[in-house]
Amino acid sequence: MSFEINLGLAGDRPGTLDLVELLATRLLVQGNSGSGKSHLLRRLLEQSAGLVQQAVIDPEGDYVSLAERYGHIVIEATGDDAELTQIAARVRAHRVSVVLSLEALDAEAQMRAAAAFLGGLFEADREQWYPMLVVVDEAQIFAPAAAGEVSDEARRLSLGAMTNLMCRGRKRGLAGIIATQRLAKLAKNVAAEASNFLMGRTFLDIDMARAADLLGLERRNAETFRDLPRGHFVALGPALSKRPLTIAIGPTTTGSRSVPHGLEPLPETTTDTRSLIMTAVPGVARLPAAPRPKPRPASQDLLVQLANYRPPVPDDLPAEEPFDLFERETALAEVFESVLADADAGLSTPATLYQDFTIRCRIRRLSGEAMGLSEFKRRLAVARAGVGGATVSNSPTWESAQAVARSLPDDLAGLYLLIVRAAMEGAPCPSHAALAEAYGTSSEGRARRMLTYLEERGVIVIRRDLRGAPIIAVPELSIETAPGQPEVAMAPAKRRSRGA
Ligand SMILES: Nc1ncnc2c1ncn2[C@@H]1O[C@H](COP(=O)(O)OP(=O)(O)O)[C@@H](O)[C@H]1O
Ligand SMILES: [Mg+2]
Repeated sequence: MSFEINLGLAGDRPGTLDLVELLATRLLVQGNSGSGKSHLLRRLLEQSAGLVQQAVIDPEGDYVSLAERYGHIVIEATGDDAELTQIAARVRAHRVSVVLSLEALDAEAQMRAAAAFLGGLFEADREQWYPMLVVVDEAQIFAPAAAGEVSDEARRLSLGAMTNLMCRGRKRGLAGIIATQRLAKLAKNVAAEASNFLMGRTFLDIDMARAADLLGLERRNAETFRDLPRGHFVALGPALSKRPLTIAIGPTTTGSRSVPHGLEPLPETTTDTRSLIMTAVPGVARLPAAPRPKPRPASQDLLVQLANYRPPVPDDLPAEEPFDLFERETALAEVFESVLADADAGLSTPATLYQDFTIRCRIRRLSGEAMGLSEFKRRLAVARAGVGGATVSNSPTWESAQAVARSLPDDLAGLYLLIVRAAMEGAPCPSHAALAEAYGTSSEGRARRMLTYLEERGVIVIRRDLRGAPIIAVPELSIETAPGQPEVAMAPAKRRSRGA
């Protein structure tokens, strides 16, 4: 069975997109207004509709016509963000393709709504991490490079959600596909996470320069983007083509705005699904009347194959490997050190440092996928935890801790090392906020779940002292933290006996 969909024609041959590869490597589409981006996204959605679940963040209500023919459920955002988060969770639970139309909202409300919806998709339970294309048209609205008229809070929420989608969505089955008319207006860290590009007609020098940098082209070669006809895109990336390839995007079967304003066509077959995801049942997390989420399909099923798919090359290697492995690792380590050596590195967030890191990688001509954010955070956690002093970083206990950290999923390694460091230094049990940050999230609930996970793996033991203050022990290393703040609700302390 083929995982390739047909986007159009590259000369006299089909221009294809490999969905499996796409899931791992994401896609950025850029081109001036009228270059044919939305048409391209529509073509992509139509061709893959029967193969994989889809969600479209649609600022202009352009894609509602997908409902007619492909059964997407249209969600008209009204400004109730909490409800949107719940709907997104149900979308994942029931594996329904949807279009989130933000047409009725102003810019600020659009950002909040997109953040709420993406957050719901992102926070889904692990057993719902089925593959899903998440298409965001006009992505510069949601991940702007600079502050605009909207409030800082809306921008932070929306940018955070987009960064999550592009940097950390993959593990959760979310394949980010973003389109923008102005590359220079899109936040760099969001653009940098895509390894596949479809570049359409581009007028402005600054956008051309950004495009050339992303593609690793000489700037003068990027000049060709200026002359591209409408509907023609230069394709590059592991899911598209190893060399720049111009594709004339083929026709679509649905039209933009073929459906009158506000209409939500509901073919009979989708009536149930619609009410299933749109109706909240008070006090009930999972709808009793809903069909059970489909059992895991037979092994030949595409979705299972997508879910189980592991790319043939390790995550942190680009498809085209310009260096040998050793040279590459050395170069990466040098870039990493140079980022840390910066005077204010100690005060910057991991995300900011990572942005700096990817830019320096590009300057060194190391690809943006050189090191993923999670690996970067892990190394940062190791480096920072070690900065505590030679006593920590040179001790055998720290060596053992690093060995354990390597056996953990990489975004948990930082969390674990933070705990170990606190324990080694006799510092109080870190707060949930500090742990959440090590895990790269603002959600303390998530940090709590991760602690539970570490505890279930026997890596840590959480207990409380007589005042109820949490203490985390690391049995393997025979150390434990000092008591933390009692009012901080730790994960339920199942084991009250001394663990270490
Ligand atoms: N490959 C194509 N084939 C036929 N018509 C196209 C193609 N690409 C774009 N168009 C048409 O050109 C117009 C602008 O395209 P659109 O996708 O809306 O551009 P953008 O989203 O980049 O602003 C639309 O009317 C669209 O139908
Ligand atoms: Mg458009």
